[in-house]
Amino acid sequence: MREGKPTPEAVPMEETADPITAALNELHASLASDSSGTLASYIPQLAEVDPGQFGLALATLDGRRYQAGDAAVPFTLQSVSKPFVYALALADLGLEEVLSRVGAEPSGEAFNAISLEPGSGRPSNPMVNAGAILTTSLVRGDGPAARFERIRELLSAFAGRPLDMDEKVFASELETGDRNRALAYLMRNAGSLRCDVDEAIDVYFRQCALLATAADVAVMAATLANGGINPCTKATVVSQSIAEHVLAVMASCGMYDYAGEWLLRVGLPAKSGVSGGLVAVSPGQFGIGLFSPPLDARGNSVRAVAASRVLAERFQLHLMHHPGRSAPVIAHAGSAVTTRSGRLRRRKERDVLHAHGGDIDLRSLQGDIEFAAAEVILQSLSAVPAARPGSARWLVLDVQGISRLHPVAARMLDAAVLELGTRGIVVVVGDGHRRGLLPHATVELPSPEEALEWCEDALLDRHGALLAPAAELPLRDHDVLAALDDEARAVLSAAVSPYTYQREERVLASDDEVLLLILSGRLAAYTQGATARRLGSMGPGTAVTRLQPLDDGRAQPMLVAELPGEGGLLRRAQLERLEREHPRVLARLWRLLASSREVGCWPVAAPAWGSRR
Ligand code: DON
Repeated sequence: MREGKPTPEAVPMEETADPITAALNELHASLASDSSGTLASYIPQLAEVDPGQFGLALATLDGRRYQAGDAAVPFTLQSVSKPFVYALALADLGLEEVLSRVGAEPSGEAFNAISLEPGSGRPSNPMVNAGAILTTSLVRGDGPAARFERIRELLSAFAGRPLDMDEKVFASELETGDRNRALAYLMRNAGSLRCDVDEAIDVYFRQCALLATAADVAVMAATLANGGINPCTKATVVSQSIAEHVLAVMASCGMYDYAGEWLLRVGLPAKSGVSGGLVAVSPGQFGIGLFSPPLDARGNSVRAVAASRVLAERFQLHLMHHPGRSAPVIAHAGSAVTTRSGRLRRRKERDVLHAHGGDIDLRSLQGDIEFAAAEVILQSLSAVPAARPGSARWLVLDVQGISRLHPVAARMLDAAVLELGTRGIVVVVGDGHRRGLLPHATVELPSPEEALEWCEDALLDRHGALLAPAAELPLRDHDVLAALDDEARAVLSAAVSPYTYQREERVLASDDEVLLLILSGRLAAYTQGATARRLGSMGPGTAVTRLQPLDDGRAQPMLVAELPGEGGLLRRAQLERLEREHPRVLARLWRLLASSREVGCWPVAAPAWGSRR
C-alpha cells in the first residue's frame, strides 16, 4: 500500500468541535503553513509522500479520541516502532537480560550513529538504530517470520487494530539500508548481535514499514500512558512495569540528539520517526500521535515537534510540572465530643459521650492517596494519643471518600493501623465497598456512621452506661417520663400501651400509631425509595413519632427494628383523649419532644453525622 491513502478503519474528522478538537484544529491551522524541513530520502519511497500532510490525534485513558487534519492517513512507523518492540523484548527476556544486551544511556547522537560501547559492542540505547536492530533480534520467535509476526501482533494490540506492512517502503529500505546493515555487522563482529545480520535487518526493516495513522499512534501512546492497558480494547498489552520502563527510555533517549532540549521544553516521553511520525505520552493522562513528513536536521518532524511544544505548554503536560495542591486528604478530623453518630441516645448515654467522647477519634479520608498523601495521614494518626493503661481508645477511619488508594499507600496505612493497635487503639473502618482494605483494622463496618455508632457503644459499655441487649428500661426511667412532673408522668404512663417489635419489623407504619417510647432494642430510620439510605438509629430512652412532619418536604423515613425490643406506644385514640382531658400534659410532652437537649426524638432531632454530609 502506498503511503497517503486512508485506511477503511480510519475515523473521519469530527464536524462538531469540542474544546479539545478545536484546540487541535487551531494548532493544525497555525502550523500547516510552515513548510520548512525536508523529506527523508535515504529510503527513496519516503520521498514520494505529500509534504503538506499533517495529522494530530489525542487518545484519552477512557478510550476517547480527538483528531485534526490528516490523522486518518497511514504512514510507516519507522522509528516510532522502536519503543513498542523494546516493550516486547522486555516482556520476553526481562529488564536485566535486555539491559545486559542494550544500554539505556542517551547517546546524544544522531539516530543512525555508530553508538556502540567500546569492546562489548553493546549499543547505547534501544532508540537509536543500532540499539533497535539488536532489540528486534532479542524478540523470541522461531525464525525471522515468526519474530516479525509477534512484533506485528504486539504493535497491533497497542493500536487496537491489525496493522499492515507497506511492502514498497520495506523493499525500498532493504535496497538502500546499507548503513543499518553496516551497524549490524559491527555488532555481529563485536559479539553483541548474536543472530544472522540479514535476518536481523529483515525483521527490523519490516517493523519500520508497519503502517499506522496518527489516530492509531495516539492509542498506542495512550496504552503506555494507561500502564499497558489499551484504553479502547481494554486488553492488557504489556505489564505496568514494562510500560514504565519503555516510557523512561523514551523520555531520556527518544529524540536522539534533541533528547535533552526536548525534555527541557516539552517534558514528555516521546519517539519520532523519519517518515514524520511522532508518539508522545502524558503518563496517566493521554497519548498523542502526530504526523507530518518534513524533517528537521535531526530527523524529527518539524510540525510534529512544534505542535508538541504548543500542546505541552497549553495543556501543562511537562513531566516536571507541579500539579498544584489538591483537596486535603483528611477531610475531617475530630472526636466524638463534637461529632456524634446518628444514634439517638438517652440522656445518661449522652452525658457519658459528652464527658468521654474524646476517647473516640475520627479521621475522614478523601481523594487519591499515594505516598505523599499517606504520609500526611500517618502524621495525623501518630497524633492520636495512646490508650491509658487499663482503658481503651477508639479510632474511626472513614475511608468512603477515597477515590484511589495506591498499593504502597494501603501498605503504609495498614502499618499505621497495626501500630495504633500496639498503643491500645481499636481501629474501626467504615466503608461497605472496600472490604479488606486495611487487614489490621479491628472491625470493618458498612459505613462510617455505623463505625462511629459501634465505637460509641463500646465506650458506653466501658463506662457501664450501655443497656445490655436483653435489658429493658423501666418506663418511669425513660427520658420523656423522667422529665415530666408526677401528674404528667402518671397521665402519660396510663395512656401508653406495651408494644413489642421483632427484628426487621417496620415500626409506626400505621396512622393509628403516634409515638413510641423505646425501652429496649434498636430502631433505624431509612430513606424511602429504591436506594434506601440509613439516616440514623434510636436506642432505649429515646422516642420516635410520626406526628412531626419533615419540614423540607422529604418523604417520611421508614422506621425498621434493627434489634428486637419493647416500648410504650401512644395510639391516636389515646392522643385524642389526652387532647380533650389533659391538654397541659400534652403541650408539655410536645415541648419536651421538640427539645433535642432534653429528649432524643426522631424525627425532631437530626443526626449530627448525617447532617454533616
Ligand atoms: O532505520 C532507519 O533508518 C529507519 N527505518 C528508521 C529511522 C528513523 O525513523 C529515525 N527516526 N527519526
